[in-house]
Amino acid sequence: MLNFNRPAMHNSSSSSPSNDTAAGTTHFGYQTVAEAEKAARVAKVFHSVASRYDVMNDLMSVGMHRLWKTFTVARADVRPGMKVLDIAGGTGDLAKAFARRAGSSGQVWLTDINDSMLRVGRDRLIDAGVLAPVAVCDAEKLPFPDGYFDRVSVAFGLRNMTHKDRALSEMRRVLKPGGKLLVLEFSKVAKPLSPAYDWYSFNILPWLGKRVAGDEESYKYLAESIRMHPDQETLAGMLRDAGLSRVQYFNLSAGIVALHEGVFLG
Ligand SMILES: C[S@@+](CC[C@H](N)C(=O)[O-])C[C@H]1O[C@@H](n2cnc3c(N)ncnc32)[C@H](O)[C@@H]1O
Repeated sequence: MLNFNRPAMHNSSSSSPSNDTAAGTTHFGYQTVAEAEKAARVAKVFHSVASRYDVMNDLMSVGMHRLWKTFTVARADVRPGMKVLDIAGGTGDLAKAFARRAGSSGQVWLTDINDSMLRVGRDRLIDAGVLAPVAVCDAEKLPFPDGYFDRVSVAFGLRNMTHKDRALSEMRRVLKPGGKLLVLEFSKVAKPLSPAYDWYSFNILPWLGKRVAGDEESYKYLAESIRMHPDQETLAGMLRDAGLSRVQYFNLSAGIVALHEGVFLG
């Protein structure tokens, strides 16, 4: 496994769920932490949950994450010979599906900042008979040349990144003219569902996390980080600001999740 990652560290403080942060600080769920600390806090979450990540995904979403990813793969329209980058790819669901479509003349990279997640992903690809390059790297500093990929994807990863604008602009940088970015992420659920969804998120998720993954805190972070993530329209604007065109999004499961996509016109 290639490792292009340089770890970050440091100080902390905490507070309440506000969308505003002082200079040099950011969100970690509902806490406000120093920007330099967020990556290390996120890393701790994913080192902790890596071995139980897939089973938790199935349980928490009642298998729905498979449908959301199937839709993403269909919208990506990966064809034989294409070069595809899956960022924050974790245990490799998207990379595996893309690799089958890109075929032996294509190139699909499975990447993530977290080596525990990536090890599970690499083993799953090997078990499925898929040969794909695997690399540890930070979405905010991608180790790929400009205009290299036909498709770039990030599923349930953007929410965890410290500087989402930097990451989106890196994703745009590595796209070829005509290439497409796909961002699958939790989003703002339709209002009538909000009370039930909140109850589920703040009661069932941490309970499942404790029972199945032995980690209640990481699943509390999941519920909080979803609420702190930009809503559909805000994220669409961020994709445009990053230099993408023809930006559109699809609400899935009443907006529990949204797939955003944009094209780099060059
Ligand atoms: C919820 S998992 C998603 C895994 C997979 N894409 C999926 O859909 O199942 C989020 C992933 O984002 C990764 N991540 C967080 N910050 C990152 C960053 N700055 N660069 C790359 N990956 C990052 C985490 O390590 C973790 O594996």
